Amino acid sequence: MKVAVVYGTEHRGSTYNIVQLFLDGLHVPEGDLSEFFLPRDMPHFCCGCVRCIEKGEEYCPHREAIAPIENAIDKADLVVLASPVYVLRVTGQMKAFLDHFAFRFMVHRPNEAMFSKTALVVATAAGGGMKSAIRDMTTSLTHWGVGRIFTYGRAVAATDWHGVKDGKKRQIERDVDRLSARIKKGYGNVTPSFKVKALFHAMRLMHKKLEFNPIDREYWDKQGWLERKRPW
Ligand SMILES: Cc1cc2nc3c(=O)[nH]c(=O)nc-3n(C[C@H](O)[C@H](O)[C@H](O)COP(=O)(O)O)c2cc1C
Repeated sequence: MKVAVVYGTEHRGSTYNIVQLFLDGLHVPEGDLSEFFLPRDMPHFCCGCVRCIEKGEEYCPHREAIAPIENAIDKADLVVLASPVYVLRVTGQMKAFLDHFAFRFMVHRPNEAMFSKTALVVATAAGGGMKSAIRDMTTSLTHWGVGRIFTYGRAVAATDWHGVKDGKKRQIERDVDRLSARIKKGYGNVTPSFKVKALFHAMRLMHKKLEFNPIDREYWDKQGWLERKRPW
């Protein structure tokens, strides 16, 4: 199983350690694992030039930072997005990262490979906010077309992994074991969720009727999606 992980923090605390438990549970060999830490590996904010959407993603001024992460995601069977909760949302750096993938949204140019992928979203907080942080990440994954998304949110009552009580760590280990078994069973053989298919069909209809961004329309046409071909 090839795995790409994007951490919305450079802090190797609870979020990082929970992802490591998943990687152990999934028996991911080192050679099949790509890990990216934000902001270290993608330190830019989207500057709003809209070149990725209107001209092509290769025109993004931050392409050099984005391309290796994009390549790893495209090759992965499992895409992991992981973020601590900062003020009830994902970290700013995770949001800045996700902003750079607007061109991949279903309304624009979703990548066919996404539809058969599995994703795992992890969020930790001291007390609360996991649900909204998880939604920040699942919203992008759904609009990228990712076929199946698992989520794991945990209030750890700590600001670092060392501060997490042993009982809580044991509970987390049990949760991770259970979820890893489910991920292992299904990956590589994914049929996209109803939500992803519905989104695809809605955008397909729109592209058939309107031509609001010519390169998107051309892309959909080239994929054969405006005819009978489907990305799953
Ligand atoms: C700037 C900042 C904002 C935070 N906001 C929240 C919050 O809104 N709700 C919460 O429960 N914990 C909040 N926390 C605590 C972290 O979410 C929590 O400790 C998390 O597990 C840290 O993950 P890490 O160990 O992977 O860095 C915040 C921490 C920081 C540094």
